Amino acid sequence: MQHDLLAGTGYRPLSLPRTQPTILVFDSGLGGLSVLSQVTRACPGANIVYAADDAGFPYGRLPEAALVDRVLAVMERLTSRFHPDLAVIACNTASTLVLPALRARFAIPFVGTVPAIKPAAAETRTGLISLLATPGTVARDYTRGLIETYAAGHEVTLVGATRLAALAECALKGEPVDDEAIRGEIASCFVEREGRRTDVVTLSCTHYPLLLERMKRLAPWPVTWIDPAPAIAKRVADLLGPAALLLPPESMAVFTSGTQLCDPLRIALAGYGLAQITIEPMPLPSRSTGC
Ligand code: DGL
Repeated sequence: MQHDLLAGTGYRPLSLPRTQPTILVFDSGLGGLSVLSQVTRACPGANIVYAADDAGFPYGRLPEAALVDRVLAVMERLTSRFHPDLAVIACNTASTLVLPALRARFAIPFVGTVPAIKPAAAETRTGLISLLATPGTVARDYTRGLIETYAAGHEVTLVGATRLAALAECALKGEPVDDEAIRGEIASCFVEREGRRTDVVTLSCTHYPLLLERMKRLAPWPVTWIDPAPAIAKRVADLLGPAALLLPPESMAVFTSGTQLCDPLRIALAGYGLAQITIEPMPLPSRSTGC
């Protein structure tokens, strides 16, 4: 099994200096915003298209074959409309499955987001690591392979959270999210074993850093929370190289469901620099037939 999904080691930096590149940051919903803010900081000259496949959300519940088909279909539409120079798959649930198919289909570089097991193994002192992710990411062969390769000497607890991504979406939309609901989703991360306790939790869904401050407050004891977004942004910046800043960079958000965005979400998106919003309707086939 290859573990180069995040690094995208098959790519060399693009030819330099570039005029303003366009970076596509893609997720099933709003979680990729946690990656977007780091990418924007690392690549200040780039145009950004943030694409949320909210018609397909949550990806964590989709069977693997359906998820591969979905991401390829959405990416086909997005690349032909926005012509990105590079795409960030800001979604662990998709990256741990779909990157080989994306790289086979499209010519642009793809940078993925996968569970930060190697940094977690380097960080732990107690040997007890928890991987907090969607049920899809927890079930992937790819995730198991990462653990065997990088954390074989440690005890890794896989926690498949069924509601946490949706709770993060609610919070960003200004809807009330109960502390108990968050506490219940993260409780299994905290393991005690013969006087040792979990000391590292790897945030392996891009939605979760959106709730980080609340998770820190609700945790039964302090741990190191690992968010891979800065490493992803650095990889993107290394691949693109410095941009020649000719015009002020532009940013926009694209959503695949035709649903109206509520005002608190528009305000939150504007806070990420995404004041311009487009709807590119792509209903999930099962939803459009009312299943
Ligand atoms: N943000 C996605 C991830 O990183 C998951 C959310 C979903 O289930 O769609 O895995």
